[in-house]
Amino acid sequence: MCGIVGYIGDSKASPLLLEGLRALEYRGYDSAGAALLLDGAFHTVRRAGRVEQLKEPLNALNSKATIGIAHTRWATHGAPAEPNAHPHLSADERWAVVHNGIIENADELRADLEAIGVAFASETDTEVIPQLLERVGMDGDFECAALENLGEQYTPLEALLDVLPLLKGSWALGILCADVPDTLLCACQGSPLLVGEGENGMYLASDYAAFAEDVHKVYRIIDGEIGVLTQNSVTFYNPAGQEISKTAEQFSRKEQSSDKGGYAHFMRKEIDEQPLAVRRTLAHFFSDDGVFRLSVELPVKPRKIWLVACGSAYHVCMTGKYVMEELARIPCEVAVASEFRYQYPLITQGDLAVFVSQSGETADTLAAVREASSRGAFTLGIVNVPGSAIARACGAVLPTLAGMEIAVATTKAYSAQLSVLYALALHFAKEAGHEAPELEKALRQLPEAIQAALSTEETAQFIAEQIADAEHAYFIGRNLDYAAALEGSLKLKEISYLHSEAYPAGELKHGTISLIEAGTPVIALACNERLLPKTAANIREVTARGARVFAVCTNGNEDHLDADAVISLAATHPLLMPSVEVIPLQLLSYHVARIRGCDIDKPKNLAKSVTVE
Ligand code: F6R
Repeated sequence: MCGIVGYIGDSKASPLLLEGLRALEYRGYDSAGAALLLDGAFHTVRRAGRVEQLKEPLNALNSKATIGIAHTRWATHGAPAEPNAHPHLSADERWAVVHNGIIENADELRADLEAIGVAFASETDTEVIPQLLERVGMDGDFECAALENLGEQYTPLEALLDVLPLLKGSWALGILCADVPDTLLCACQGSPLLVGEGENGMYLASDYAAFAEDVHKVYRIIDGEIGVLTQNSVTFYNPAGQEISKTAEQFSRKEQSSDKGGYAHFMRKEIDEQPLAVRRTLAHFFSDDGVFRLSVELPVKPRKIWLVACGSAYHVCMTGKYVMEELARIPCEVAVASEFRYQYPLITQGDLAVFVSQSGETADTLAAVREASSRGAFTLGIVNVPGSAIARACGAVLPTLAGMEIAVATTKAYSAQLSVLYALALHFAKEAGHEAPELEKALRQLPEAIQAALSTEETAQFIAEQIADAEHAYFIGRNLDYAAALEGSLKLKEISYLHSEAYPAGELKHGTISLIEAGTPVIALACNERLLPKTAANIREVTARGARVFAVCTNGNEDHLDADAVISLAATHPLLMPSVEVIPLQLLSYHVARIRGCDIDKPKNLAKSVTVE
């Protein structure tokens, strides 16, 4: 949520900042801006809308500046309009700040500053930061600062060390001070921030994707830390201002490829990458000679397993519950992360709490990890971004190795997450003495099963053409098919804006069936062979009321279903079918969104990682 970049070096800053922002646009795309520092003054460009809106004004500036910061925004405080776009400057225009996160006490700080005559130029929470930085260098206006003016005894680092304790909330910050043009400051609390060291200078970014080709070393800044970057060095400090040493990871841009590789959209590319994502993820669980093993130590026989996440990752948890309970016979509770803390969860020592997150940054999921830990549960993260906040907060981590996912709507990370939950269920089943050789074999072959499901694209596209004009659509399914229906419905509405809802197939007649009219599309998932007759009956209930039914089932069952069109899939182990049936649902959503002319990779109002509650 919001992407920040910064550069200080010997190259022109503006093209590097623009490239960095393009790579981070998935994090938020309501408005964007950049500040370049040249000859002791800031030159800023800010625009409502996409990063691309910055290109012309930045080119027009034709600045020789070799230091700058930039931002792409997902609005939280104030509309996505130019005055609220970052960077924000102090009233004296000596400080410029880009921020990802939320300053929770911004209203109080703003009131204090306004009371001493500070005029604000935006509605954002962020603006209090440059305004505070300006004030702490002045005598007496704030308790923290009985200090002389900046540039004499007061360094930007000292100013920042004074300001950070005044803030509550979360932040990743890039900060420039016009009086100290050889320094780029950064700080982090609860939002991701990386420093990249390159041949041509030092970089700051919310994500690896934004680093230029010359970057070969990366430092992850963690909570409370501050970085001071110069053209060819970085020094890190703890919140007390003491210098600390940090270890860098080696980095290569080539391994972080973020281009579309000939596809029209990242989402379509990522759909095709699912067999590979699942293969790489599962390789973690099988030794070279095919023996199943878990790489982390987990509690033996947990009393209960909690599965907690948001959005699509929550649907992964729904699937995980069915599989875990059937296979390992351990009671599971599934919770939406944003509700978890407020439901006074009866979670305790002896419980295993599993948190599923692609980004590893989702604020609600992170807060749920902390809640579970504070109540004594063992916490396990299933995350796609190594070193992310959720990965760091959990007692153990099982990675999804889906690679960087760029489309806002998740596909390959979803599939990788499902495969980890199957593996987890298999682990606990084995521990309890319930060997499941058929499932284990099918799990190893899951990448091939997913690959085969990709061949349903033609029928998915045909169905997309049938439903693209509809105003509403309904997804129905029972048991595991219901969990898949939830994901299919979310994907469809998220990227095509066609309103849809998912229901357990037997539940429709308890109310929702009154919405079915002549021509209403119903996507019926009937891959669960055990429940096929029941789902077939539910399909008849809606066709009798005029619905157009598009069914998804396993090969050979087509004739049992009264449907306008059917997508048939090669069956795998019944507990693994959600991984297979989700593929045509992703393709269906993709093609509906394409036909409706939607911005598939960047659906409106969304952002890839949601770092606000
Ligand atoms: C939907 C989607 C979201 C995420 C949710 C959780 O396509 O991508 O629903 O699944 O925001 O995000 P992570 O997995 O990063 O915690």
